Amino acid sequence: MTKSATKEGTTRYAQRFAGHAADGHFRETQRMVLSSLGIGTYLGQPNEKTDEAYTAAVVAAVENGINVIDSAINYRFQRSERSIGAALQQLFAKGFSREEIVLCTKGGYLTPDSSMPADPNEYFFREYIQHGIFTAKDLAAGSHCMTPKFLKDQLGRSLKNLDVECVDVYYLHNPETQLSEIPKPEFLQRLREAFEFLESAVEAGEIRFYGMATWDGFRQDPRARDAMQLGEIAQIAQEIAGGMHHFRFVQLPFNLGMPEALTQGYQMLRERERTLVEAAGDLDITVIASASLLQGQVARNLPGFVAEAFGLENDAQRALQFARSAPGITTALVGMSRAEHAHANAKLAGVTPATVEEFSKLFSRGEGA
Ligand SMILES: NC(=O)c1ccc[n+]([C@@H]2O[C@H](COP(=O)([O-])OP(=O)(O)OC[C@H]3O[C@@H](n4cnc5c(N)ncnc54)[C@H](OP(=O)(O)O)[C@@H]3O)[C@@H](O)[C@H]2O)c1
Repeated sequence: MTKSATKEGTTRYAQRFAGHAADGHFRETQRMVLSSLGIGTYLGQPNEKTDEAYTAAVVAAVENGINVIDSAINYRFQRSERSIGAALQQLFAKGFSREEIVLCTKGGYLTPDSSMPADPNEYFFREYIQHGIFTAKDLAAGSHCMTPKFLKDQLGRSLKNLDVECVDVYYLHNPETQLSEIPKPEFLQRLREAFEFLESAVEAGEIRFYGMATWDGFRQDPRARDAMQLGEIAQIAQEIAGGMHHFRFVQLPFNLGMPEALTQGYQMLRERERTLVEAAGDLDITVIASASLLQGQVARNLPGFVAEAFGLENDAQRALQFARSAPGITTALVGMSRAEHAHANAKLAGVTPATVEEFSKLFSRGEGA
């Protein structure tokens, strides 16, 4: 058995915070216990100072009740994954175990290694094309690829960067990028081949689950060229692996400025218009929110009615409270390259998520006035 997050391990993690965590901070999904906040590692410079800062922030997050860690191979040119790898070693030395932590990463975007090479074309030719890992026709938008061969290579690199045997959730990174160039049937065929590989990676013990981390794809009117239908995509997984398939996670932006996952009925499922969270719920797919602070923009200067609805100390906490309290969202990811932000945001672990009533106040403001 390779080491990964487990039900027992993540339950044990939650029990460490039994005296402190509020009801509703830890949520069970896909036979694991996840914290309502997760640490993201997207933003920041590809330099040593940021590497060290992320390592310290990940350690602080896990020490304070956040057991979901999110990355992607291309974040800071593979350096974010390596910063997490270093943090995990420190956490293991402090007594945490791999089984307690839900480790998520993504593949799909071409990335250099550590820094931008002087001649990127020469680098990608030497590192990939020469070894037959992709050909020019496999690429979309000049930078995106999801062929099985490429994904296999990228997953191998991610495991090495993170210094683990298994990733708990492996996402295809913004697959809708491909829809800007290829027609829908070809896109679905590429997804099918990618999913076949990802199911085989589950069998090999290299990943536990897979999913799609998206930006626009699940927030669009279905007529948009890059709109995706979760039901149609889950059907592909079903055809490959039956009811026990491992396509169990989707990630999409959800924050005070981007609430579509909860508010727009853009998903057609069994001939009914559903929101993304409703469709995911019906399909037993876990929803993870990204960009919970709208990349820092909703961490301050929020309108007064948000404070009225949620109380709390400051706008960053209120914006995170919004994302973690939304019905159907399991974990809200927040980028934190600073340990001080990890400490500040982890305070929410001790706060009960907003009730549906408090949450609804935001949407009904002004009504009846
Ligand atoms: N398509 C995709 O797959 C996709 C797209 C976007 C994001 N994501 C995932 O979602 C994660 C979160 O999104 P994001 O990082 O883009 O944006 P975000 O979480 O909305 O915002 C991150 C920014 O907020 C700052 N911040 C954090 N806590 C704060 C606080 N208490 N007060 C004030 N500022 C605070 C961070 O600063 P410091 O860094 O200085 O701590 C950082 O600049 C990403 O890291 C990534 O893992 C995935």
